[in-house]
Amino acid sequence: MKNFSWICFVSLCYVFNPAQSLKAQSPYDEMHRPQVHFSPKENWMNDPNGMVYLNGVYHLFFQYYPGATVWGPMHWGHAVSKDLVHWQELPIALYPDSLGYIFSGSIVADLQNTSGFGKNGKTPLVAIFTQHDPIGEKKGTIDFQNQGIAYSLDEGKTWTKYTKNPVVKNPGIRDFRDPKVSWYEPGKKWIMTLATKDRVTFYSSHNLTEWKKESTFGEKLGSHGGVWECPDLFPLNYQDQQLWVLLSSINPGGPNKGSATQYFIGKFNGNEFTPIQDYTEPQWIDYGADDYAGVTWSNTGSRKIFLGWMSNWNYATIVPTEKWRSAMTIPRELTIKKPGNRFLLASEPVKEFASIFEKPIVFADKILDNFDLSKEAGKINGPAVLHIHSAQIKNFSVSLSNMKGEELILGYDAPTNSFYIDRTKSGKTEFEKSFPARHTAPRFATTKETDFVLVIDNASVEMFADNGLTVMTDIFFPEEDYSILRIQSPAHFTASKISFNRLKPIWDNR
Ligand code: FRU
Repeated sequence: MKNFSWICFVSLCYVFNPAQSLKAQSPYDEMHRPQVHFSPKENWMNDPNGMVYLNGVYHLFFQYYPGATVWGPMHWGHAVSKDLVHWQELPIALYPDSLGYIFSGSIVADLQNTSGFGKNGKTPLVAIFTQHDPIGEKKGTIDFQNQGIAYSLDEGKTWTKYTKNPVVKNPGIRDFRDPKVSWYEPGKKWIMTLATKDRVTFYSSHNLTEWKKESTFGEKLGSHGGVWECPDLFPLNYQDQQLWVLLSSINPGGPNKGSATQYFIGKFNGNEFTPIQDYTEPQWIDYGADDYAGVTWSNTGSRKIFLGWMSNWNYATIVPTEKWRSAMTIPRELTIKKPGNRFLLASEPVKEFASIFEKPIVFADKILDNFDLSKEAGKINGPAVLHIHSAQIKNFSVSLSNMKGEELILGYDAPTNSFYIDRTKSGKTEFEKSFPARHTAPRFATTKETDFVLVIDNASVEMFADNGLTVMTDIFFPEEDYSILRIQSPAHFTASKISFNRLKPIWDNR
């Protein structure tokens, strides 16, 4: 399948192997611990922050509370990867200060030293984040969220906060946060996309320290069921047409309850964003319950790589993990597609992900009336990728289950032309009332042909249907690992090819 070609990057992975040192510190083998997704060694994590690529290294910062496995005074944790697959967790990058907790934000590589923070030819990394003053919040003020900056001259290891913070003062909007900054070349200026209540506001700057308001976007468009958070704005080509994508997470108000990320495709002229199609109905980057606050890496050229937090504020603080809470999605490459008369944002796992594939087990021309893949391939336990290709989509389901009778069911429902994930009986579900549910997503592809890819880990599944046109991510917590994988179809769904790849855990020595 296009854009998800399983190219082997093994040599690259051998050069850089942070997993080796991590394994020595901690086995990462607790119950429900993701084996192919980033999760912090211990304690609480939420949104990805400050994702930036510099000198061959992908930096992933994240909302982190080192004091407990629940949300608390926010710091920025830090992890790095050379291949977007294997991660090494580094010491905490940013700590709360007198202006407040360090909420979500972004990092830019200030290549032209517009900020003047660079010294001796060193490119400064500049972090732009929200400073959330918990005292002001308690007092009932509304201007307790302001934007501050910090810079690093050692590739994100240590940071100096700007002495004149905040750089964008709250104008009297209670929810005023999560700045995502990028360089706008035609206007030779920085653009900040900021979540402001249930809209986004754009600011611009020539030096990252002085900011001017440009415009506001979002009134009566998309979903307004909750506050907008963690926006992102970036150009992305469709054929030879340059379009712009605006992401905006929202909580609550998602398509399957709670948190989710909507998007708009349009034009941006340096001052204003204008959608190129109707967004009375929201469009979601991922229709599952567990992909939130996702944004893209900066400084990756025309390649746009997205990653989200694999949880939902409805239950994030009470999911049944003990040592740590939450993981990130697989990094995903974004493209714009136009299957019918609408532009859509598609996402698929980055090609580097294929570097951890074990040898595939392949089946050709299978009628999937009742196919027990685990009988042919052995027990499923552990992370895996299942890829089904068919010339004609029909009703089908994939079930992952264990000897306790716990079961996760995913598939396609022809009468409603929708995909679904049903975690009603997936294991431990009783910790929150909305958790045991069946989630659905529309099928956007207009072809009969389908490609259906599942990335399965110990406590999550990511579904990429039709080359990423419909995406769903859900987490689950079985009492014992799923070991059986069955594909069923009363409609005689036939796969021209099924391939099943076990995955090498990213924390293991290889
Ligand atoms: C989104 C969010 C952001 C905020 C951060 C606080 O999940 O609520 O808006 O900056 O989490 O941790």
